[in-house]
Amino acid sequence: MKPGHSLMKHYLQFKDFRAEEYAYVFDRARIIKKRFKNYERYTPLTDRTLAMIFEKASTRTRVSFEAGMYQMGGSVVHLTTGDSQLGRAEPIEDSARVISRMVDIVMIRTFGQEKLEKFAQYSRVPVINGLTNEFHPCQILADLFTLVEHRPAASGDPLDAIKGKVVTWVGDGNNMANTWLQAAELLGFTVHVSTPSGYEVNAELAGIADAGCYKVFSDPREACKGADLVTTDVWTSMGYEAENEVRRAAFKQWCVDEAMMGVAKADALFMHCLPAHRGEEVTAEVIDGPQSVVWDEAENRMHVQKALMEYLLLGKLA
Ligand code: CP
Ligand code: NVA
Repeated sequence: MKPGHSLMKHYLQFKDFRAEEYAYVFDRARIIKKRFKNYERYTPLTDRTLAMIFEKASTRTRVSFEAGMYQMGGSVVHLTTGDSQLGRAEPIEDSARVISRMVDIVMIRTFGQEKLEKFAQYSRVPVINGLTNEFHPCQILADLFTLVEHRPAASGDPLDAIKGKVVTWVGDGNNMANTWLQAAELLGFTVHVSTPSGYEVNAELAGIADAGCYKVFSDPREACKGADLVTTDVWTSMGYEAENEVRRAAFKQWCVDEAMMGVAKADALFMHCLPAHRGEEVTAEVIDGPQSVVWDEAENRMHVQKALMEYLLLGKLA
C-alpha cells in the first residue's frame, strides 16, 4: 500500500464500492485506456506484485490482469490449484497469510464466495474477486464502462449514462446475473430477468436489499422489450458441468436471436462476458452483428482492472 493510504479495501462483490467510487474508477479507466491507446508509458505500480490464483480456467481474466499489471510497471505471480499447495488442502487462511506477506495485491478465481471471503479476512493486502460461483464484479465493471463509452450521457457523468437504463438478462440466474442485480440496486437502473424455471435469480443470494431493481419475465422476448442493453452468458457455468445435458434442454428457448434484439430499443447494445457458444445462448447473427460490442467489452476488462488496481493500491489520486 502507498504510505498514508491506510484504509485497505477489497473488491469481493460489486456492492463493495459506493456509486461515487464507481464514478472515480470509470473516469480513471477512461484516462488509463487513452494513455494505452496513445502508447504513453504509465507505470504507477512499479515494484508492485499481483498474485493471481486460479481454481477455474480463464482466458480474459488472466490476460487482462497480467498484461495490465505489467503495463503499469508491476509484476505478476500466477498460481493454480494444480501447481500450488492450494490443491493439496493447505488451509485457505494459511495461504492468505503467506501470499499476502509477499505481494501487494491478490486476484482470486474460485468456487464458493466464502473461500474468497476467508482469504480476504486473513490477507494483509487488497483482494479482488476474479469470479466465484456467486459473483463476477470485474466483468460488470467492464460491461458498465463499455455501456458508458458507447452511450455516454450529455452531462459527461458516467453515472448519468447508467442511471435509468434497462438491461435485459437472458439465461441462467448465475454469478453474472447476481452481479447485474447488485449493480442495478447501487447505480439506479433496472434489470429485466428471464431465466428458465428452476434457474431463477434470488434477491437474497444476489445480496440485494429489495427486489425493486429487477423484473422477472417468463418469456425472454418480453424481457427484451425496450431494453438499452441485452446480455446473456453460457448455459452451464464452470463448476456445473455435470448438469450440462439437463441445462441444454431447459435453456433451448433462452437463445438471444434477432427477434429478441428486434424488440429492444433500436440502438440497443448486445454484450456477452465470453466465452460464447454460438447457436446456444446467442446466435452468430447477434454476437457477430452490428449491435454487438463484445470485443470492446472484453478489451475493457483490462482498462477497468488497471483502474481498479490503481485505486486499491494508491487510493484516489489528487
Ligand atoms: N469473461 C471472463 O471472465 O472470461 P475468462 O473466463 O476467459 O476469464
Ligand atoms: N458464468 C460463467 C462466466 C464465465 C466468464 C462461469 O461462471 O463459468
